[in-house]
Amino acid sequence: MNNELYPSWIELDKSAFEKNVSFLRDYIGNDVVFSSVIKGNAYGHGIKHFVPLAEDCGVRHFSVFSSDEARQATRASNHDETHIMIMGMISNEALGWAIERNVSFFIFELDRLEVAAREAKRIGKPARVHLHLETGMNRLGLENEEFKDAVKLIQKNSDYLQIDGICTHYAGAESVGNYVRIKEQIENFEGYCSWFEEHGIEAKHRHTACSASALNYPETIMDMVRIGISQYGFWPNRETYMNFVKRYPDVDKEHKDPLERVLSWKSHVMSTKKVSAGEFVGYGNTYLTSRDEIIASVPIGYSHGFGRNLTNVGIVLINGKRAPVAGLVNMNLLTVDVTDIPEVSKGDEVVIIGKQGDQEMTVSSFSNMRNNLNYEVLVQIPSILPRHIV
Ligand SMILES: Cc1ncc(COP(=O)(O)O)c(C=O)c1O
Repeated sequence: MNNELYPSWIELDKSAFEKNVSFLRDYIGNDVVFSSVIKGNAYGHGIKHFVPLAEDCGVRHFSVFSSDEARQATRASNHDETHIMIMGMISNEALGWAIERNVSFFIFELDRLEVAAREAKRIGKPARVHLHLETGMNRLGLENEEFKDAVKLIQKNSDYLQIDGICTHYAGAESVGNYVRIKEQIENFEGYCSWFEEHGIEAKHRHTACSASALNYPETIMDMVRIGISQYGFWPNRETYMNFVKRYPDVDKEHKDPLERVLSWKSHVMSTKKVSAGEFVGYGNTYLTSRDEIIASVPIGYSHGFGRNLTNVGIVLINGKRAPVAGLVNMNLLTVDVTDIPEVSKGDEVVIIGKQGDQEMTVSSFSNMRNNLNYEVLVQIPSILPRHIV
């Protein structure tokens, strides 16, 4: 890809992903199914590019939120053995498509189970389903009192309902404050699984773990995991990292994080200008030069997700040095003070997220709102930015 053609672009580091997956596989066990969670446009990495990258690294199972994401993922996939699982939204009208395409989906309402069986009969092929059980999150999931009806439906339609999984999701496994609630959910899940088994329902897989639960509660790994944020090189939060290092002190021996960021966001200097001391830069009067300064324009703005709230606050990297945003962030453009960076010129690489020299702009430093989760910042990276694999 010719980067010169684009105001900014995303780079996906394949070797970083390989390292993350290898670390996670070693941890969870090689015989456990690793489902790569790619909802939210693969956490901003881009489904179209991320799926083939992950497939090249041996991943053959992907979890999406909705049927439209499942369609994107099937289009992006290059491998016949790749399986796509929908964890959330799929309308009854789209169930036929999923069945025909071998896409599995969560069942959290009896109505969906009924329609799935009906559609499967019409198509002449079993629907691959995962029974999503309510264990205490109180969001989605079959309720205890619905289990008997679910079993009846499954037994009545045994040729048309294939139980690929029995699963649940935890209500905040990244925080010790939720410990009691998570432990209760684990207990509930185990009890419910035994109940289903006693009633003749054997699921192919049991899966409950996201990154935080796999890392904080190893008993949740079972025989399949649904891993999102950590495969992209981020710990779910600081607490999870600290907890992990406490259990495995070797991991942090050289103060080297075993997870590496996959995504970088880059641009280039569009133009530079000398501005005398005492002049305002850009719209209005938010930035007044305090000396003779050199201002560089970078073709990124709030239309690309670089928020206006980063006006006079954000930082980018140029020539391995930190360049502070000087003046209002515009729709397509921002201005940075490069006075202290020698010889900045048109075309120089600008890093918005990622490494340059020995400096790094992390996803969390990109946002000046400290309580903005990595998850939130990542998924807001616009899907229209070109992406390529390095
Ligand atoms: C049902 C479900 N499973 C797994 C995940 C992956 O979570 P994480 O990115 O924390 O690994 C998510 C994401 O929120 C989810 O909704």
